[in-house]
Amino acid sequence: MKDKNSGVSSPFPKEKQEDLLIDPYGRKVTGLRISITDRCNLSCMYCHNEGAECCSGSPTGHEMAPELICGIVREAAKFGIRKVKFSGGEPLFRKDFEDILYCLPPLEEVSATTNGILLEKRAKALKVAGLDRINISLDTLIPEKYEAITGASAGSFEKVIKGIDSSVEAELTPVKLNMVLLKGVNDNEIDSMMEFVRSYKGKVILQLIELMDIDPKLSKYMIDSKALEKSLAEKASEVRVRHLHHRKKYIINGIEVEFVRPMDNSEFCAHCSRLRVTADGKFKPCLLVNDNLVDVREARSPEEIEKLLKLAVSRRKPYYTPVEALELKKNQKEEKKRKSEKSG
Ligand code: 5AD
Repeated sequence: MKDKNSGVSSPFPKEKQEDLLIDPYGRKVTGLRISITDRCNLSCMYCHNEGAECCSGSPTGHEMAPELICGIVREAAKFGIRKVKFSGGEPLFRKDFEDILYCLPPLEEVSATTNGILLEKRAKALKVAGLDRINISLDTLIPEKYEAITGASAGSFEKVIKGIDSSVEAELTPVKLNMVLLKGVNDNEIDSMMEFVRSYKGKVILQLIELMDIDPKLSKYMIDSKALEKSLAEKASEVRVRHLHHRKKYIINGIEVEFVRPMDNSEFCAHCSRLRVTADGKFKPCLLVNDNLVDVREARSPEEIEKLLKLAVSRRKPYYTPVEALELKKNQKEEKKRKSEKSG
């Protein structure tokens, strides 16, 4: 078993500024979101396929070997990456997911996003292999509705619930339930979802997610996020702001409810500290952009991975921007750099 905290000294020595991954807009990159497969056993009505261009949902079949995944994370960890999230498709389709977890370097947090259907029997092994916590997609508590949203077969909903229970038991906590809000479909279930989460006595968090209407057909399902934020704030005894994406966390009757609001949100982008890796081995600077990917499959050495990682970071650009403010910041940074080059 991997012992993440062996040794007396901290495994996270303070990096020098030049060892950090900082993009041209001054955003520090501290997390990787790595898709390890594009295979999936669901076909959710809203799925953005992790930003893949095709969106047909058909798998490419080019998955990264555990050695490449761990090589990437090892390099990234040298430059300030502290958190890694694994996603899919459905990451549990990878029978070697535990092998991937075993070969990772020490990190602050390793997590995964799954639909939970295959989770019940894997939860304990994943924990032992080094997974710290897990996100489970669950948009409704009504089995028939679950099948309609996800295209799952009968009996799948019950499997997800068992997956949640076994993750709590395996201490993959806090378990976060990802609920994508769909107007007229599940937006009347927020209270019942909060009740459900409350029954886990602090071990489960509710994560409400604004729909990304990447397909115009989805626009009719967009909820009024401002109104929802207002009602959450009214019910909350405390509101906290996470650094990542400036996501708000509401404490409501003893449970945590996080709200993820990516659409048209320049604050979300301004506080994005994540770099993505696609299932077929490309650094992806932004979920919504596909013409700036950096292929890392052919990298033959840690030095090459480092070079490609830095190239990808240099291509990061906030998707939603209060443009003038960001350009100003970029110009100031370049000016400062020019001055220090001149003087030194
Ligand atoms: N809008 C918002 N979130 C999405 N996800 C996938 N597609 C979308 C979308 N269109 C997120 C959900 C899901 C995870 C796998 O990806 O959070 O739980």
